[in-house]
Amino acid sequence: MAIPVIIDTDPGIDDALAIFLACAAPELDIRAVTTVAGNVGINRTTRNAAHLLSLGGRSHVPVHRGADRPLRQELATIEDIHGQNGLGGVELPGTAPAPAEGSATEALIRHLAAAAPESLTIVLLGPQTNLALALQKQPGIARAVREFVVMGGSLDPEGGNSTRYAEFNIHTDPEAAAIVLAAGRPMTWIPLEVARQASVDRAWIEALRAGGGPCALAGAAMLDFYLRAFDRPQAALYDPLTVLWLIAPELFDLRPATLEIETLDAARAGQTRFDLATSTSQIRVATRCDDRAVRTRLLERLLRL
Ligand code: RIB
Ligand code: CA
Repeated sequence: MAIPVIIDTDPGIDDALAIFLACAAPELDIRAVTTVAGNVGINRTTRNAAHLLSLGGRSHVPVHRGADRPLRQELATIEDIHGQNGLGGVELPGTAPAPAEGSATEALIRHLAAAAPESLTIVLLGPQTNLALALQKQPGIARAVREFVVMGGSLDPEGGNSTRYAEFNIHTDPEAAAIVLAAGRPMTWIPLEVARQASVDRAWIEALRAGGGPCALAGAAMLDFYLRAFDRPQAALYDPLTVLWLIAPELFDLRPATLEIETLDAARAGQTRFDLATSTSQIRVATRCDDRAVRTRLLERLLRL
């Protein structure tokens, strides 16, 4: 039975690979995609999500436009990493379908309100503003969440990538992440360190390009920009690891943890403080992955498109 999921995303190059991976996963039933401003502005993330789904053969999946800014912080996009258009300057073939009627918050409320208890998995690949707004408007929808799968945070409380203390998704909207955490539903976090462990290099990108399909070619071209932006021989594919967790959980080591998210101290805003010294928790955090198998499985799946 395919896992019903909603993907909330800010494509974004690594989001794009995550969306392609979800398109190549019969294990997942993508009910909707909701977009948020983050890597780039909301117009581009929304157009990119629709275009990526169409290229991945999932043009029937509705895309709902979401928040154009965080709950309280100012939006600080990162075009230097993702390009002005959010896809490394790559122009995808064809045209982007129009987004669906209804905002991301309305769609999240509608889907969750209609879903059976603990039945819908929400994959969070960007700032968690849309989920926070939906939970604030109708808190009861939380009961339909089977689990939140989150790309975000860092195991090292001083191992951030946006600031010394905070990872980009949580730093962009710490208040939203705290609201989603407070919903008290099961959460699986894929932190920066695990994504960095499974970074890809030039050889991996060329193996993707050699696939020759439209998604493989587009993905490789986006990663050409991404690798230059990192200015290192390897680049971390953060977001795809959340989708891979759903497809192949055996590739990840997870530990139960308690979690605090900093929202008061401005210098540490968005800091994630995981405490692994706990035996039972609704929250699990990945501590390691089988990085060779992750790279192999990612490539194998993306080459199917
Ligand atoms: O810190 C990595 C996260 O921030 C990823 O989701 C990437 O797409 C950016 O949004
Ligand atoms: Ca993202």
